[in-house]
Amino acid sequence: MKILLKNCKTPDGLKDIFIEDEKIAGIQPSENSSHEKGCDECDQIIDIAGKLVIPGVIDPHVHVRDLGQCKKEDWTSVSKAALAGGVTTVFDMPNTIPATVNLTNLNIKRVAAKKALVNYKFFLGATNSNLKELEEILSEHPIDIAGIKVFLAGSSNNDTVSYNDILKDIFRLAKKYDKIVTVHSELQTCLNEWRKRLPYDTVLKHNAIRNRQCSILGTKMVLELAEEIGNKLCIAHCSTAEELELIRKFKMDNPVFCEVTPHHLLLSESILESVGNFGKVNPPIRNKKDNKALWQAIHDGTIDFVGTDHAPHIREDKLLKYSTAPSGFPGLETGLRLLLNEVNKGNLSIERMIELTSKNAAEIFGLEKRGEIKVGNFADLAVIDMGKVWTINAKEFYTKAKYSPFDGFEIKGKVEMTFVNGKMYNLNADLR
Ligand code: NCD
Ligand code: ZN
Ligand code: ZN
Repeated sequence: MKILLKNCKTPDGLKDIFIEDEKIAGIQPSENSSHEKGCDECDQIIDIAGKLVIPGVIDPHVHVRDLGQCKKEDWTSVSKAALAGGVTTVFDMPNTIPATVNLTNLNIKRVAAKKALVNYKFFLGATNSNLKELEEILSEHPIDIAGIKVFLAGSSNNDTVSYNDILKDIFRLAKKYDKIVTVHSELQTCLNEWRKRLPYDTVLKHNAIRNRQCSILGTKMVLELAEEIGNKLCIAHCSTAEELELIRKFKMDNPVFCEVTPHHLLLSESILESVGNFGKVNPPIRNKKDNKALWQAIHDGTIDFVGTDHAPHIREDKLLKYSTAPSGFPGLETGLRLLLNEVNKGNLSIERMIELTSKNAAEIFGLEKRGEIKVGNFADLAVIDMGKVWTINAKEFYTKAKYSPFDGFEIKGKVEMTFVNGKMYNLNADLR
């Protein structure tokens, strides 16, 4: 299959991109492109007409669910949501049924994931007792493992690691096999204390109840442990100004990485007054000062990449009372679009957006031949109409979770086509 994409706007100018099977086979300035002539053998020539073309998004934080949680999401629905959001690679989180905590369960998941339309890798889940199981998997150096995920607290149907000695062993194991440990760093003992202090009665207090101190304490603890062991560490969904200060400091001498979600960056807790439990997420949406600190960290390089923490739950369950409603909401279909909107508003350059959505994650997690539009790389691309104004309508989502705290937001910038390994998905026609 040979496809020529003519007149693609890129940060380096107007380009013609020639795709041959799975890979990018050529890139030339549009004006003096000889591909058209030399492309009699092309199966398709598409005029992109000056729309923006960026590397497909790599989302390192996706709860795909499937199997025992297929009512919430499965590999088919998540793939469509990803494609609609310009996402071409997802890293699946381990808090599934069954959980990705041993080889048997990983193999079950590997079979389920065959339905995927996008590229994927799996995070292995650490528990208080599965070090041997993790090593059994890692020692074979499988290329489908993104890293090890550690939860320091209960968030949504997840195992937790509750002892420092075990955490150190996990960090040592990660170092031995050169894998990243991604940590949900809210600290359970701290959360327990705050639960005693504050009544657990309204989502408006979610930010106070799952108190910022618990994120700060946990992040400090894992940064110190990782410094001692020398392993690669990623702080997942960083939410507070204080954590950013710590990460900024530790980053100077240690391989520490930092993920931000679009909701922690763009929303503050007052949104809960209008969206209720649809905005219930862990760690909680914080305050405007934290938004500001996160933006600062985007610009000064403290934050390495954006992960959506796509965490679909059944809509009816989100409508239960605050204390029983699950935490998390979908993000794959809104993540890139919200960032495009920020580019349009002048808050973010296209170049920095590309680093945050694909380039950095590809480098940090060692995804070969991805994360950059380059000859020889896989043709993972998103075609974007930067001028398109539209309104987020959760009812039209491809994910099974048809709600979002961003529902009704007006956005400028829309994904029109997504290419995964050279295969084209036209979002207006190919997904329904
Ligand atoms: C996630 C989920 O539902 O799996 N929920 C959430 O609130 N973020 C778990 C997690 O990432 O903490
Ligand atoms: Zn988490
Ligand atoms: Zn998550």
